[in-house]
Amino acid sequence: MLTGQRVRLRPIERADLPKYVVWLNDPEVIRGLSMYIPLSQSQEEKWLEGIEQGPPAERPLAIEIRAPEGWLHVGGIGFHSVNWRDRNAEVGLFIGEKHFWNQGYGSDALRLMLRYGFDGLNLHRIYLQVYENNLRAVHSYEKVGFVHEGRQREARFFRGKYLDVLWMSILRSEWADVEV
Ligand SMILES: CC(C)(COP(=O)(O)OP(=O)(O)OC[C@H]1O[C@@H](n2cnc3c(N)ncnc32)[C@H](O)[C@@H]1OP(=O)(O)O)[C@@H](O)C(=O)NCCC(=O)NCCS
Repeated sequence: MLTGQRVRLRPIERADLPKYVVWLNDPEVIRGLSMYIPLSQSQEEKWLEGIEQGPPAERPLAIEIRAPEGWLHVGGIGFHSVNWRDRNAEVGLFIGEKHFWNQGYGSDALRLMLRYGFDGLNLHRIYLQVYENNLRAVHSYEKVGFVHEGRQREARFFRGKYLDVLWMSILRSEWADVEV
């Protein structure tokens, strides 16, 4: 468990899956993600079984926020493609509860993930991909310290047109372990 003042990250449980099915079938949530095919509960169950067999560092975590009634599960975050020789990994995240967007929770979750990646897993570089029209996400990543490093032109097809995919990264030497 990675715990901050307002956000904490914990392993995903089977009981969380119905929420993922709702969030990952919501067009507004997935417009920034790579998924586009409708997802079922049984597919999510297979996904969880798969990740439990996979590399421990790539197991996604649930994002929970501190609410008056206790910790509330609002989204997910995880590393992919961890490369132990070059010590880098890709990170991805989403807040599925849309009314909690723009309140700093995504940025705080990402800051906790950077601490886990750099201090816990001893990574050297953490990178991500974001679609050019996802301005909220780009702004959040810039706030957290990611820098722009490249652009894949027209690499994403979305609602009848092609979008550029931006690549951003942060090195351990650039990372400031701010209080979260
Ligand atoms: C992207 C996401 C994780 C960001 O989390 P969040 O909690 O909403 O983001 P934060 O509040 O931490 O930061 C967003 C920042 O962008 C700003 N912002 C919002 N809309 C914006 C826009 N259209 N243009 C520029 N900045 C914008 C916010 O004001 C905020 O900045 P501020 O704190 O300086 O005011 C979340 O919105 C989300 O899950 N979206 C859907 C899934 C997704 O796109 N995931 C990312 C895939 S790469």
